[in-house]
Amino acid sequence: MTELLTDVEFEQFRRVIYDESGITFSQMNRSILDSRLKERLREKKLATLQEYYKLIMSDKEEMRIMLDSVTTNLTRFFRNQPHFDAFINYVIPHVVELKRKTGRLNIRIWSAGCSTGEEPYTIAMVLKETLPVGFTYEVLASDISLKSLMVGKQGFYPDSRIAGVPQNYLTKYFDHTEGGYQIKDEIKRCVRFDYHNLKYDSGQRNLDVVFCRNVLIYFDEAAQKAAVNRFWDAMAPKSYLFIGHSESLFGMDTKFQFLKTDWACLYQKNL
Ligand SMILES: C[S@@+](CC[C@H](N)C(=O)[O-])C[C@H]1O[C@@H](n2cnc3c(N)ncnc32)[C@H](O)[C@@H]1O
Repeated sequence: MTELLTDVEFEQFRRVIYDESGITFSQMNRSILDSRLKERLREKKLATLQEYYKLIMSDKEEMRIMLDSVTTNLTRFFRNQPHFDAFINYVIPHVVELKRKTGRLNIRIWSAGCSTGEEPYTIAMVLKETLPVGFTYEVLASDISLKSLMVGKQGFYPDSRIAGVPQNYLTKYFDHTEGGYQIKDEIKRCVRFDYHNLKYDSGQRNLDVVFCRNVLIYFDEAAQKAAVNRFWDAMAPKSYLFIGHSESLFGMDTKFQFLKTDWACLYQKNL
């Protein structure tokens, strides 16, 4: 297939996507960008990329749609089980102990780059199962993909997307309906979906745990560092950060402390 993007246009779009979101396209994944822009051009019935470039620069909504179209939203329930084992066996007991000392029994967790909701719903179900009586919790779930956020808000997953959910969770927290599973209201109520671009400060403070898994991988080092520093500001002392198992803060100048538990590795704001 012939490429739509010329070298100059590749640079132009690559730059604007990076500036707007931190997402970095290299020559290696140029064809992905090419095919996604082609699709958008067809949908908008435009003939050239220059027309489309003009459009995104003058229309904020189209800029959002373009950014959405270049994101990768692959996710699943209980993705990387060792993270959830560490969450259940290490993080939750420590957070509970700390909260008891302060007398504030509400736990706040952020799933940053939540895609279609499988991650925040997994977190919410696990908390429902494991938190001692008297504790409450809220899960904030954010993404720049509006299409993904809509799926998350709806909370309906076709049969094919439910793999990995333990049978007892499936029975307790989903309603089996035509062609799929609907997450129950008792879990839905605990998750708040919101548009948020990790390029900017979320305004959140004192979060107890942040999950930002398989998101930083799409950023270059400078954008990763900026996002990680913003997590630091959003998190409470002694709080925990999960990043993807193929991602690392190694070599990055951050204040987070690396933690190796029996189940998985994570980071702590150890103040
Ligand atoms: C591969 S998914 C990861 C989903 C989930 N965290 C997981 O590990 O299964 C990456 C998500 O990051 C989102 N994303 C990429 N850049 C972002 C940004 N600048 N701000 C917020 N979300 C972003 C994408 O839209 C996508 O939904």
